[in-house]
Amino acid sequence: MERTFREHLFLLLLCLSAPKGHGRYIEVSERLHFSSPPTCCLDMVAVEGQFTFTAERPQLSCAVFLMAEPDQVITVDYNSVDIDCRAGDFITVFDGWVMKGEKFPSSQDHPLPLYERYVDYCDSGSVRRSVRSSQNVAMVFFHVHNAGSSFTLTVRKHINPFPCNVISQSPQGSYTMVIPQQHRNCSFSIIYPVEIDISEFSLGHFNHLPKRSRPGCAESGDFVQLLGGNGIDTSKLLPITDLCIAFTGPTHVKVGCDNTVVRMVSSGKFVSRVSFSYRLLDRQELQTIKLNKLEDFCFNN
Ligand SMILES: *[C@@H]1O[C@H](CO)[C@@H](O)[C@H](O)[C@H]1NC(C)=O
Repeated sequence: MERTFREHLFLLLLCLSAPKGHGRYIEVSERLHFSSPPTCCLDMVAVEGQFTFTAERPQLSCAVFLMAEPDQVITVDYNSVDIDCRAGDFITVFDGWVMKGEKFPSSQDHPLPLYERYVDYCDSGSVRRSVRSSQNVAMVFFHVHNAGSSFTLTVRKHINPFPCNVISQSPQGSYTMVIPQQHRNCSFSIIYPVEIDISEFSLGHFNHLPKRSRPGCAESGDFVQLLGGNGIDTSKLLPITDLCIAFTGPTHVKVGCDNTVVRMVSSGKFVSRVSFSYRLLDRQELQTIKLNKLEDFCFNN
């Protein structure tokens, strides 16, 4: 986990609620040198281990973002928990991330219905001691009223042989997304403005066709979308381009948005794959995009 990623993430966040955050979370943000410290209490955990959270003061209302490698999922085990459920305290693990009221993966692309993605300790503590994420990100929300309340969680990472939805840990890298004959949709999300270079992709049934791109991708049932926008819910992002015929690339696209997403829609009839690399746009490139009215949809909202 790069330190810059943490800073970037915190700056992207609007507070989930506006509690009076105290304790070590404000210390975390102070160490990150905010020009204006967030009034909510947030932390980011990208390593495995046992974490103990202790409320030094009441009214601690916090969120912890958990993150693993693209080909990993996360388990959260409750160890000792000393909170007052009857007084309204809670610890909830969410299967995904919530930012600015939006969710990743979007409800459309997640295998579970929304209510099953929240696992609340007080509602199910005696039944579910362990929660497993469906992708490389998860989140823990908690709220405790009494100073001295505390709980311990164990965070572990596990190999996911068929990663589907992913948030990139870094603003540069490369990735190959494969959907092995499954009727589902997968997204790779980069929460930075980047140049993306789609180097190779194949969608079974179009492999024999020579033409590159044509309208009507959606009707074909198997296609790749490049999306951009300023939130994390992929169903609310704007389409930049659709690709639905195999090509021998490369295709370079600069996206000046907070979030750039490669999304693959699969009918399940074929093995679909797309490979791409990406790098952070520099200040000058962003300025150029801003000046070009045709490409500036991310700066309008
Ligand atoms: C995948 O996405 C497409 C278009 O966005 C949608 O019509 C389809 O229902 C989705 N499929 C699944 C399995 O969620």
